[in-house]
Amino acid sequence: MPHIIYKKNNILETPSQCEDTVFDFLAKSYNFNNENRIPEYKVALKRDGVECLLTIKSKDDNFMVKADNITRLTPVSLVKDALNDFATITKAEILSSNTASNGEKIDPKKEYLKDINYFVNDFNTDKEIYIEIGFGSGRHLIHQAEKNPDIQFIGLEIHTPSIEQMLKQVEIKGIKNILAVSYDARLFMEFINSNRVGKIFVHFPVPWDKKPHRRIYSNEFINEALRVLKIDGKLELRTDSRKYFDYCTDLLTNLPTGKITIDINKDLEVISKYEDRWRKQGKNIYDVVLTNYANDEDINLNHDFSFDKNINLDKFLKNMDRKAEVNEDYFVHLEDAYVINEKTVLLKLTFGSFNKPLSKYILINETEIRYFQGNPLPTSANIKAHTRIQELLK
Ligand SMILES: C[S@@+](CC[C@H](N)C(=O)[O-])C[C@H]1O[C@@H](n2cnc3c(N)ncnc32)[C@H](O)[C@@H]1O
Repeated sequence: MPHIIYKKNNILETPSQCEDTVFDFLAKSYNFNNENRIPEYKVALKRDGVECLLTIKSKDDNFMVKADNITRLTPVSLVKDALNDFATITKAEILSSNTASNGEKIDPKKEYLKDINYFVNDFNTDKEIYIEIGFGSGRHLIHQAEKNPDIQFIGLEIHTPSIEQMLKQVEIKGIKNILAVSYDARLFMEFINSNRVGKIFVHFPVPWDKKPHRRIYSNEFINEALRVLKIDGKLELRTDSRKYFDYCTDLLTNLPTGKITIDINKDLEVISKYEDRWRKQGKNIYDVVLTNYANDEDINLNHDFSFDKNINLDKFLKNMDRKAEVNEDYFVHLEDAYVINEKTVLLKLTFGSFNKPLSKYILINETEIRYFQGNPLPTSANIKAHTRIQELLK
């Protein structure tokens, strides 16, 4: 995790700017009547059109600044640049840091590399969508995109050099129908509207034999895949791991409906780097394809997540209950508060469904209350939680 340890100083004047980073405000942890609480600070910044927070904590007699772990900023090169800009503008006397660029830089302006917020707020296409999860070197993704120019492809990958390599090919070949996202595929599907996807390819996922909870396939993932797939849309697993194959067929054959086809050593038009390796070793390759039969209810990506604006901040903070409030199918946990000034507060909270809790900040001042970094996804649990949060803020 990129961070800088530096000698304690006056922290930061805001608003201010250094290079491409605009520092909007500084917030200090509210002590909730605990005079011994060691202050922690949040710094709000904007970079490349994205807002996020840095955390400043005391470390021994010094300060440590790093990216706040709720307001994710990707790729990691952006975090490093923002931290270095922070150190410059605060004239920090650096004691140690790991924010030097390591050459794994993705140009954030790359046309076909999208931030996850793009899929929440702006993604819109009339085209059919195909998704490839963990595209690696991108051989299969690029082959498919060239063969199907009318399909919009979304490539998900968490390995930065692989994304770079794939995007280089996209540029060289002039391919216009791939969007790449650096995001965990297990969490991505919920940003896609229902019944829009023709195919989801999961080719040679990491089997995670020792850490099965990290596998792409799970009941939740399969249900989300079925929701985004159109009728006759397919979720395609290709693997060399017999254990992963058995695990996935077990999950899929426990579904109430659906068609499953299984192949062994089926030839595809393109052989990925991994497949090449396994074939040379004489390993079996298994395909398990799930076909979707039903249309699903559309998720409403446009729910109104605004707040009423009248709040007595002082009273609210004094009475804030920091215990989680658990309801039947959602919860709300007001965790912490950071004071920007007498009239402005940053509230940290976790809420939503139990199996996918969402941590966020709410920025509260007299004229505006809003979710920092944009609204939550309009899942039913988040909508219920939002209604409850509105009541708690009154
Ligand atoms: C074994 S490689 C296979 C790459 C490619 N599909 C192929 O056949 O050559 C698995 C890839 O999945 C990516 N990956 C692993 N977990 C992921 C996740 N949760 N979301 C997106 N990509 C993931 C890894 O970074 C890696 O590039």
